[in-house]
Amino acid sequence: MLEAKAKNGFVQDEVCKMLYQSYKHLNKTYHIQSYGCQMNTHDSEKLAGMLSMSGFSPAASKEEADIILFNTCCVREHAEKRVFGNIGALKKLKDEKPKLIIGVCGCMMQQEEVADRLMRRFPFVDLVFGTHNLNEFPSMLKAVLDGERTSSIIEGCEIEEGLPVKRADGVSAFINIIYGCNNYCSYCIVPYVRGRERSREPEKIVEEAKALADQGYKEITLLGQNVNSYAPNGEKDGFAKLLYMLNDIDGIERIRFMTSHPKDLSRGLIEAMVRLPKVCNHIHLPVQSGSNRILEAMNRRYTREHYMDLVDQLREHVSGIELTTDIIVGFPSETEEDFNDTLDLVNRVGFSSAYTFMYSPRRGTKAAKMPGQLDAETKKMRLLALNELQAEHVRANNKKYIGKSAVVLTEGYDERKGLAFGKMTNFKMVYFPADKDAIGRFISVKIEGEQKNSLIGRIEGTNMSRDAEK
Ligand code: 5AD
Ligand code: SF4
Repeated sequence: MLEAKAKNGFVQDEVCKMLYQSYKHLNKTYHIQSYGCQMNTHDSEKLAGMLSMSGFSPAASKEEADIILFNTCCVREHAEKRVFGNIGALKKLKDEKPKLIIGVCGCMMQQEEVADRLMRRFPFVDLVFGTHNLNEFPSMLKAVLDGERTSSIIEGCEIEEGLPVKRADGVSAFINIIYGCNNYCSYCIVPYVRGRERSREPEKIVEEAKALADQGYKEITLLGQNVNSYAPNGEKDGFAKLLYMLNDIDGIERIRFMTSHPKDLSRGLIEAMVRLPKVCNHIHLPVQSGSNRILEAMNRRYTREHYMDLVDQLREHVSGIELTTDIIVGFPSETEEDFNDTLDLVNRVGFSSAYTFMYSPRRGTKAAKMPGQLDAETKKMRLLALNELQAEHVRANNKKYIGKSAVVLTEGYDERKGLAFGKMTNFKMVYFPADKDAIGRFISVKIEGEQKNSLIGRIEGTNMSRDAEK
């Protein structure tokens, strides 16, 4: 395993300062379009941080921006097609505004062959870089502003600390704790584009969380492809230990984490969830399939029985816990019987929410070469059936809350609906009539109804203690 060598400061801050001096007075703006998972969303917050440090501000719209960045995802083919389509559509804008800078980065660009194809197909793209050289963005941007067309994709595994971050809101913040993935699930491209696992030093994470608390953030979400394998210096149960450290930070009231791999979910973690009041009673635990045969072919290294046992343990010990999951249908050689096993597991667990996907072959992964690839129609039918079943579970799950009180940490205000919104500790989303000044506050809401994927309620009281419902 490559050693994670952390640099202790953002090495390109000087470049940002130079850019600031040259460009601040021109009031240039940027627009970042982010695809894919929370990890990518958070990388986009770092890109925004570097742009702000360089004197650029967010544009009101893509059309008005001087710099457009696409932070791409390649987990499924559909995501790739969308990116190519959306970049192609920018040609007109670039013809109208020749000085517009277009950059493409993220997981999809970490695959050199795709990056080359993109550069060839869209000569108007100025800047391409992968996930491993996010931190070099300022110098690449400078080169483009100086008139170059630049592309840089490196294989690198260092963690660079201290990158500036411009976060989307002031209540809830993402923190990376581990980068990369060593699991090589047979369908998944992530280990190839995000590299080997590298855990951040716990002191750096605590430092970041304390700084966020000082800025008024109340909730943190710890991010990693598999947070359960967080192991700074190879330490056992490193993730549970980290939670104990973070639970002590004044001002941080809720701690979430994403994603957990069932094979690595330890007793120590369940214990931490029980004992630590700030750790939320929600877990995102991707099951992927309910069939043991398919789980094995996916190289998931657990059985459905083990998964169900984890669910039982979590439900027994963590009061009011809700589970969410990811499921893939139509994996190579999946039979009707395998698929029925998935439906059966969904019925048994009763997930409060599930992200469901049709299997998408990814070049370079083991599953892409497996025999028994299913046709699109079969995959589609299975996805529809699964979604229908899951929708019933969401409705049943929502109904449990009607008439009950819930403590919601208000995250934002939906102008279109004229409602404030936020989450319960167990990740259930709640909308309710309130003023914008509810944002950032813990509010007791009486649940009165449900929408498709959320609950609707009415305020009962404000300034609640964070864990009144836990
Ligand atoms: N096809 C379909 N879904 C996939 N995922 C990952 N790779 C693929 C693929 N090749 C899904 C998994 C994972 C989620 C982030 O994306 O369910 O948990
Ligand atoms: Fe992909 Fe599996 Fe790693 Fe998740 S655990 S990122 S599905 S290889």
